[in-house]
Amino acid sequence: MDDRPIGMFDSGFGGLTVARALIDLLPDEDLVYFGDTGRYPYGPRPLDEVREFARQITRLLIDRHNVKMVVVACNNASAAALDALRFEHDIPVVGVIDPGVRALLAATRNHRVGVIATVGTVGSGAYQRAVRATRAPVHLQCAACPGFVEFVERGETRGEDVHVLAERLVAPVREADVDALLLGCTHYPFLAHTIGDVMGRDVVLVSSADETAFEVRSILADTGLVRRSGRGTGKGKHTFVSSGDVEWFKRLGGRLLGPEIDDVGSHQWD
Ligand code: DGL
Repeated sequence: MDDRPIGMFDSGFGGLTVARALIDLLPDEDLVYFGDTGRYPYGPRPLDEVREFARQITRLLIDRHNVKMVVVACNNASAAALDALRFEHDIPVVGVIDPGVRALLAATRNHRVGVIATVGTVGSGAYQRAVRATRAPVHLQCAACPGFVEFVERGETRGEDVHVLAERLVAPVREADVDALLLGCTHYPFLAHTIGDVMGRDVVLVSSADETAFEVRSILADTGLVRRSGRGTGKGKHTFVSSGDVEWFKRLGGRLLGPEIDDVGSHQWD
């Protein structure tokens, strides 16, 4: 039993898709969410730089917020830093890539699957390796979608411009005849309406959020880290911190996540 909060982070608003799943599955747990909106997007940055960002945020979550676990709610940071963070810290560190792959493989019927993600994630080969490691007999087609994250961060989750971009960027996975498509960036579920329109009704869109939340729940149970106080009350406390414009984080975050965001703390990197 452990009353410390769960820490989680993303480059910005994307990890809120994972936060939603965590809050719904584990309503008693306290949560600290760090959105690195002052330094987004991570996708175009070199993996070494993203790894350093992930290290800084993880240290901040542990030192300042005393978290009992860290959820890397960002595919790009998971691809760049998960191994390093697990090596460097003795609290559990959970990423989104393996949970996403599990959900993807459970969804396919024709054994042709797709992953769309940022340039950094696709280029890292993390999904290609994770799918291969399962030894599942599937054909995987990946496609990078530069620009999607920026649309979400501006709050433009629908409309002609994002639709035109999606038509072009997801063409490789559409042409590969996949029947299940993993949204391999935690921002992309906010664009599911547009991506679903472009892919067509026969393709199942898969997000890593729920599967990641299930993994967090079983790790908490297996390692004796479940929260003790307030059990069964569903009154976990949710804290949000942004390295960018906190008013914007509050406004757009509230729209994307819901009423849990009522106050947002600020953190400025030196
Ligand atoms: N949500 C992050 C991810 O899952 C987006 C990375 C970015 O900022 O480009 O990869």
